[in-house]
Amino acid sequence: MDFDNENRIVTSGEIHGDNEIEYSLRPKLLDDYIGQKKAKENLKVFMEAAKKRNESLDHVLLYGPPGLGKTTLAGIIANEMGVNIRITSGPAIEKQGDLAALLTNLSENDILFIDEIHRLNRSVEEILYPAMEDGALDIIIGKGPSARSIRLDLPKFTLIGATTKAGALTAPLRDRFGVISRLEMYTNEELQQIIERSAGILGIEITSKGAAEIASRSRGTPRIANRLLKRVRDFAEVEANGVVTDQVADFALRRLEIDKLGLDRTDKTMIEAIINFYDGGPVGLDTIAATVGEDSDTIEDVYEPYLMQIGFINRTPRGRMVTRVAYEHFNIEFKD
Ligand code: ADE
Repeated sequence: MDFDNENRIVTSGEIHGDNEIEYSLRPKLLDDYIGQKKAKENLKVFMEAAKKRNESLDHVLLYGPPGLGKTTLAGIIANEMGVNIRITSGPAIEKQGDLAALLTNLSENDILFIDEIHRLNRSVEEILYPAMEDGALDIIIGKGPSARSIRLDLPKFTLIGATTKAGALTAPLRDRFGVISRLEMYTNEELQQIIERSAGILGIEITSKGAAEIASRSRGTPRIANRLLKRVRDFAEVEANGVVTDQVADFALRRLEIDKLGLDRTDKTMIEAIINFYDGGPVGLDTIAATVGEDSDTIEDVYEPYLMQIGFINRTPRGRMVTRVAYEHFNIEFKD
């Protein structure tokens, strides 16, 4: 475990290369966090109220598509509350004992951040309920007739859960979060600001048109915006004079096969397959996944949210349907 005293962030594993850059781009204060106005304003109130009462913040559930800044927001909450954060993920907590070890190591008011909380094992989830509600752990030791339950009192703590699938959470777990906050996709203007801020931190020279070009091709997602910025910079340095202009950005993104709306080859293959093989749908998610050779969870969590956001795909009870706008974008004739 790494403990960064200044930012009060605890991470497991080391941070290297692009990860190190990604980490440095993360804002540490709520005022530096661009976008997510609703979530930010509400969190500000809840944090201030908890601080006034000298209490730990109520448990928080953050949900929304990947890359929108759930982990970043959790880090900011810890920083603003002046407490430590321990970062883990649902699949990493295999046994009840793993969670017990994490919880008993927390200090008063600390934050436990569980990413992908919908993937928690049911038996682990069961001991999380009393921990969240009563601040206690009920552990069964031994087996058979000699088994007994012991209750461990825990320090006051805040659980921050993050998930891309709020619907996959069991009702008892969802109900134990006092604050439930949905993160939205970012507007192009917000993404442009994020790109300009990141370019400043990384020492990249960029024009506002250059930032706008990358922003409009970043699928509403800061993680993608920052990744594209780094790749466009590579092209700017090798194929141009180092400055990221809109022309350089367009050149680089074309080379990366990312179109004007930020769609890549997988998006294109998927939309064209639904049109060509299934007459535009409706077609089931698993069929789409098999046709394009992707995992259905990846299609659902990574590709679909943006395609639905821009109105290219509709979800119907009988499956997914491609809309007229998508036909037009890919220059395919639409038949009613
Ligand atoms: N980097 C990643 N997400 C960000 C955000 N929401 N605001 C500022 N910088 C970011």
